[in-house]
Amino acid sequence: MDPILWEWLSAGVRWLHVVTAIAWIGSSFYFIALDLSLQKAPDLPPGAHGEEWQVHGGGFYHIRKYLVAPAAMPEHLTWFKWESYSTWLSGAALLAVTYWAGAELFLIDPAKVELSKWAAILISAASLTVGWLVYDRLCKSGLSARPTLLMLILFAVLLTMGWAYDQVFTGRATMLHLGAFTATIMTANVFLIIMPNQRIVVADLKAGRAPDPKYGKIAKLRSTHNNYLTLPVVFLMLSNHYPLVFATRWNWVIAGLVFLMGVTIRHFFNTKHARKGWPWWTWGVTAALFAACVWLSAAGTQGAPEDETAALPAQAQRFADAAGFDEVAGIVMGRCSMCHAAEPGWDGIGTAPKGLHLETPDEIARAAHEIFVQAGLTDAMPPANVSFIEPAERQAIRDWYRAGAGARLAAN
Ligand code: HEC
Repeated sequence: MDPILWEWLSAGVRWLHVVTAIAWIGSSFYFIALDLSLQKAPDLPPGAHGEEWQVHGGGFYHIRKYLVAPAAMPEHLTWFKWESYSTWLSGAALLAVTYWAGAELFLIDPAKVELSKWAAILISAASLTVGWLVYDRLCKSGLSARPTLLMLILFAVLLTMGWAYDQVFTGRATMLHLGAFTATIMTANVFLIIMPNQRIVVADLKAGRAPDPKYGKIAKLRSTHNNYLTLPVVFLMLSNHYPLVFATRWNWVIAGLVFLMGVTIRHFFNTKHARKGWPWWTWGVTAALFAACVWLSAAGTQGAPEDETAALPAQAQRFADAAGFDEVAGIVMGRCSMCHAAEPGWDGIGTAPKGLHLETPDEIARAAHEIFVQAGLTDAMPPANVSFIEPAERQAIRDWYRAGAGARLAAN
């Protein structure tokens, strides 16, 4: 696809994904806080569990919760599900645009496993489904009666998954996939458990039967999990901006600590909203976990140095063979590698920005598309043109990229 259209597709899908996620997380945080703050009142109608007064937007709200359901089906009923579904759908699209289409750059790490593009995409997609199957099985086992043990096992599953992703994918894809793995569980909880149970209750109401309280309890367990998983998922989704988070040896352990921080932070707010005090100790634990992440991230980069003899993927090879490559390689090494290097020489840049190395011809051929967008099509790089790239050099990058892309089209 045309690189300009592709860039805008990516920007558009990302925008949509962030907006839908705000809507989902916003409504879910709102309802959790509301649930915890419900009070008993003498005039509550039969079946009502609690009420709350709130003030917002120029008026007062008087909200009542019926548990499991009111005596009769209300005339209007608003459902909350598309916030979750649209977040998952737009997230899946963004995963495809970024990590599947860009598999050679962002997903596959030949130093770990030499995967073909399709094999990597298959692992990426299949792993997300498997996560749900394992999790759902766990929740439906006898463990649901022991929620704390269930949470600990869930934590072990997440840690194992983080480690497993790191065995096959780049560090960046590892963190992102662990986030997607968790978020898939969260949306599937809504789609496959919470909503169907809610529909059974509604059908009972319409038929004039008393709904079984067990459906409410099942939904509550799943939504408690979603509550504790929200903050870590957001962290993992943002992690690709910070190489020190994803491109270091202990990235999957860092992810594990982030899941624990998700619990300590939510515990503070859950307790406060339930008006049961202010457990300030949770911030001490959170700070200690954060400090452990900082410390671990400095413990070194991953595994063996890149195998210089490994074959370039076919697509990158076409850019390495394209007219003008030697000149462009010289330009990029001269103008970019002071920052984009294993040991950057630029003051204030401690690690290669975005984990992107541009020190060897192979690295440059692999990053052809990125170089074209950041330094050929636009002048985003070098930042503020600190290394004084010339307009003619940008032209050389554009000519080379188009020659390579033309060869790619001809080959397909
Ligand atoms: C002064 C240091 C410096 C130089 C020189 C530099 N970059 Fe960067 N580069 C950065 C920083 C910092 C970022 C991260 C920007 C951000 O976080 O948005 C970055 C990010 C990038 C990205 C990743 C964008 C993304 O969103 O993944 C690409 C591609 C890139 N640079 C290409 C280049 C190219 C090509 C050159 C040379 C023409 C170059 N850079 C020169 C500092 C530099």
